Amino acid sequence: MTSIDSLLTETRRFAPSPEFAAGAVAGRELSERAAADRLAYWADRARELHWHTPFQSVLDWSNPPFAKWFADGKLNVAYNCLDRHVLAGDGDRIAIHWEGEPGDSRSLSYAELTTQVKRAANALAALGIRQGDRVAIYLPVVPEAVVAMLAVARLGAIHSVVFGGFSAESLRARVEDADAKLVITADGGYRKGKVFPLKATVDAALEGTTSVQHVLVVKRGGNEVAWTEGRDIWWDDALEAADLDHEAQGFEAENPLFILYTSGTTGKPKGILHSSGGYLTQAAATHHDVFDLHPETDVYWCTADIGWVTGHSYVVYGPLANGATQLLYEGTPDTPHPGRWWELIEKYGVTILYTAPTAIRSFMKLGRQIPQGFDLSSLRLLGSVGEPINPEAWIWYREVIGAGTTPIVDTWWQTETGAIMISALPGITTLKPGSAQVPIPGVKIDILTDDGARVDPPNGGLLTVREPWPSMARGIWGDPDRFVETYWEKFRDLGWRYFAGDGAHVDEDGDIWLLGRIDDVMNVSGHRLSTTEIESALVGNPMVAEAAVVGAADETTGQAVVAFVIVKQSHRAEHSDEEFSELLRAHVTTAIGAIARPRQVFIVTELPKTRSGKIMRRLLRDVAEGRAIGDTTTLADTSVMQVISDKLAAGA
Ligand code: WT7
Repeated sequence: MTSIDSLLTETRRFAPSPEFAAGAVAGRELSERAAADRLAYWADRARELHWHTPFQSVLDWSNPPFAKWFADGKLNVAYNCLDRHVLAGDGDRIAIHWEGEPGDSRSLSYAELTTQVKRAANALAALGIRQGDRVAIYLPVVPEAVVAMLAVARLGAIHSVVFGGFSAESLRARVEDADAKLVITADGGYRKGKVFPLKATVDAALEGTTSVQHVLVVKRGGNEVAWTEGRDIWWDDALEAADLDHEAQGFEAENPLFILYTSGTTGKPKGILHSSGGYLTQAAATHHDVFDLHPETDVYWCTADIGWVTGHSYVVYGPLANGATQLLYEGTPDTPHPGRWWELIEKYGVTILYTAPTAIRSFMKLGRQIPQGFDLSSLRLLGSVGEPINPEAWIWYREVIGAGTTPIVDTWWQTETGAIMISALPGITTLKPGSAQVPIPGVKIDILTDDGARVDPPNGGLLTVREPWPSMARGIWGDPDRFVETYWEKFRDLGWRYFAGDGAHVDEDGDIWLLGRIDDVMNVSGHRLSTTEIESALVGNPMVAEAAVVGAADETTGQAVVAFVIVKQSHRAEHSDEEFSELLRAHVTTAIGAIARPRQVFIVTELPKTRSGKIMRRLLRDVAEGRAIGDTTTLADTSVMQVISDKLAAGA
């Protein structure tokens, strides 16, 4: 966890400029309305959407913690993101400016995107996809990814998007857990100037599984692919054969919309389940208010991959529900040159940029002369998400990218919360670098002690949510008990409170400062990884006897994966320590994906354990971060840390 002292060293405050405040879409009346009647407030926000059947019931909390919002209403999520805008006369507005990594580009208007989604929905229906069926999506950031998600939504089916950086094994686990009928993938996608294969990974993932009947393949990389006759179909062929017309049917507000897997404290990723009406309500409302969206004039860019929840809520559902024009970029920030992002902002006149602190810190390292080589004057609002933003990065972001004038919104939320929960509102909130600040209207946050008492500000504690909110997760796919245990059990006696797993500090003004995870979950470049999951991957290697993984502080990525591994006696003579390290880093990449590859793997002969056999990761973190080793008195063998640090020092 970050220490609050390091955050509080920056004391500058930034009040909204009068010009920004005058044009801001969200005013103080939002908080006033929400404070006066929370449920009426959310009902009003939900009514900004199109309902095939209007709802009467707002919240049904009769079976906590499984909420139902707007349950007697019916809507179609894709219709809200597409047809609605076309019917309102905005069909010619650009929905997506897409830029591929090699520099190819396509722009799709709302009318064109609607037509594509209708065709795709018909194509999926022809393959037997019906309401409630699961469709896995394993695609690069191409317009077809958005089309695929919306086509699934249009049919009332459930998508499970799997980030393209996950391995075949991870993909297989997700396909199997959700019992997916269809996989939508591409031949390959571009990354760092090269085509990386996706279809080949899908082929490997599906070996031996039975639930998948078809694989739809988007042509993108142009790389060669193996073909399973009868199972594999080119996306273009399927769409060409499909009818242009598709009438969107209304589905119940609680019809599931998607499953998204995220790491928890155990080895098995959790399939977080979201439903339709409440999710779309909060995704759209927060996207509008927090990003001060003026859909007629703004060009919005969220740099997240669609494989993460940020890509779901703030690339696909929020922006499209609001009729926004957005940029979608396929590749990495430094391809073919380190100014690629800034070049894109200049080219498309991006006005709102939403990205992660890890990206900002890596740009800081490269130096301000790179962004300063481009015209960034179109930018008027900046956003941050995924991990605490250190005040230094916040100030750099504002000065170098935001011309010293743009508001910055630091948005706290999670896969489980579905949409933003804590953020400044630009034009209203006086900004404090490093603090996520205030709950959005209609959300109630409490910082509690371990015993459930509210902390006295200024003080730190555990971040909890007091009342149900529209976009909250509806469960863990196939495991309702785990949902209750993980998030709700801890403060059950206080009535139902959601426990987020984050530590937080609340200051005298009531502003909230996030301090990081308090469990065995790491945050690497704004992505969640589980120590246990990586440890199980390591011990899954036949050479490994034991493994311990810690998240060590890292200047750029926030945290980095550092592993300590004991190699089995019978294998020790086979390789040098360096070779074992390399082999095991590659092993984790194969087992989980490149995002989980350890920064370092240390080969050791012992691990520090308590007398009851629990690994003391705290001590390993001290070693990994190059600190003096803390209190070792509870270790079963107090000499073990000395042995480990001597060995590491010898290797360094
Ligand atoms: C965890 C959720 C929300 C989309 C991206 C990550 C951390 C997220 C912030 C922030 C401090 C943050 C938390 C949270 N986190 N945003 N603005 N300040 N920490 O979604 O993978 O579900 O991870 O990311 O630790 O619990 P996720």
